[in-house]
Amino acid sequence: ALLIIDFGSQVTQLIARRVRECGVYCEIHPFTKAADAIDSLRPKAVILSGSPHSVIHQGPTIDAKLFAMNLPVFGICYGEQLMCDLLGGKVEAGHDREFGRASIDIIKPSPIFKGLNDNETVWMSHGDRVTAIPEGFEVIAVSEGAPYAAIADEKRKFYAVQFHPEVVHTARGTDIIRNFLFEIAGFTGDWSMASFRDEQVAKIRAQVGTGKVICGLSGGVDSSVAAVLIHEAIGEQLTCVFVDTGLLRKEEGAQVVALFRDHYNIPLIHVEAQELFLGALAGIDDPETKRKTIGKLFIDVFDAEAAKIDGAQFLAQGTLYPDVVESVSPSGGPSAVIKSHHNVGGLPDYMELKLVEPLRELFKDEVRALGRELGLSEQFVGRHPFPGPGLAIRIPGAVTPEKVKTLQEADAIYLDEIRKAGLYDQIWQAFAVLLPVKTVGVMGDARTYEDVLALRAVTSSDGMTADFFEFPWAVLGRCATRIVNEVRGVNRVVYDVTSKPPGTIEWE
Ligand code: XMP
Repeated sequence: ALLIIDFGSQVTQLIARRVRECGVYCEIHPFTKAADAIDSLRPKAVILSGSPHSVIHQGPTIDAKLFAMNLPVFGICYGEQLMCDLLGGKVEAGHDREFGRASIDIIKPSPIFKGLNDNETVWMSHGDRVTAIPEGFEVIAVSEGAPYAAIADEKRKFYAVQFHPEVVHTARGTDIIRNFLFEIAGFTGDWSMASFRDEQVAKIRAQVGTGKVICGLSGGVDSSVAAVLIHEAIGEQLTCVFVDTGLLRKEEGAQVVALFRDHYNIPLIHVEAQELFLGALAGIDDPETKRKTIGKLFIDVFDAEAAKIDGAQFLAQGTLYPDVVESVSPSGGPSAVIKSHHNVGGLPDYMELKLVEPLRELFKDEVRALGRELGLSEQFVGRHPFPGPGLAIRIPGAVTPEKVKTLQEADAIYLDEIRKAGLYDQIWQAFAVLLPVKTVGVMGDARTYEDVLALRAVTSSDGMTADFFEFPWAVLGRCATRIVNEVRGVNRVVYDVTSKPPGTIEWE
């Protein structure tokens, strides 16, 4: 195994992700537990992460014993500075802080740069910098702002870089990590999602024992993959609760029930709460009030069902790594609420359920890979993300059962045409929005006065930023024709060409 020692960088999980991509098993442990982790994991090599702290100001540190254990060590950013500090080099506050794209010149051949060009683009993000390197090290790459952009002690197999090889902006970053793993540390790269599945099954069994687990299903990929994985681990000790808000895409509620109850044979409580939710939403047109109403009701309904399951001690969630990051603002302080996100959570205190979150370290595409590994269909794992408050936030103004129905029909046609055109997988998310605006049209010889439907499709890698998708006009044209012809109450279709920022992906 590879051990990643975490000093609190925002992107430590990305290191793990790159390492997994290379087919190597790794674990992240905080610097405070580094010694224990080395004892229990017996790693073959160690990576030291970045950190928002400064070694000059008594930042997080580890026992220098690590460097006497004959293990290859790779220090990244703060990891480089800490290595220098602990091994007798010198770190000073940088006069010019370096943030963003930079270019390094590789001045000495090294196995860590095998296959790279003499000049590469990297991503820098540091204030302090190394000003003297420890004995035994030499400089192997330089950049304008960092004369010690990369250093190495080839004999002891210690490597360190000032830039971040784990982020995508460092063009050949994965190659650098792969070189460390394969060329230097001697890993073979035989780990895969199949191994992850086995490890997690063992972990879930160890955590849960003979206890009972409740899992909230949303119909989305994350909670479904978590449920199937947990079911594989503990079988009937798992009960799923699916709260049907009536705000899902067309026929999706029935699909969830069929997949879990009939296909996987997982005990499932299907709570038909459609009327409850639509009732609670009646007359509400403020987006935040809608979100809060749905979020609160969801928790109430879920809790009431969960409380009926006798002796449940665990709550399973499909929390992914980006959820963990987004819910904690980077500064640790309050950040502006753009939209109050809703996810399953918040059980009453008296239930005191412990969390089971087997996907906590994964990114979305890794969850999809795990889903495939577990036998979920491509159609299912490749599904676009869907927001917790569902179609309610795609109906500006007050939500009514009729509007939900209309939107479901139009949305289904839109997605059908996108699939037929072979474009579904190029799009991060595509959906329709039913506007509270009526316009005049003509059908046959008659005047119509009906609603406007907006279509939205965006490309994105994480939902944080997005560009509108450039459809071939003919595809949009077919969508508009079919929707106006087949969906009662809609006589005009428009396409949203706003990027995020300044727009958001959803309309509310
Ligand atoms: P926005 O509209 O903020 O959306 O640009 C970014 C991504 O988040 C999804 N989204 C949600 N997901 N609960 C969720 O689980 C929510 O309340 C929620 N609101 C938005 C949205 O669909 C897009 O993928």
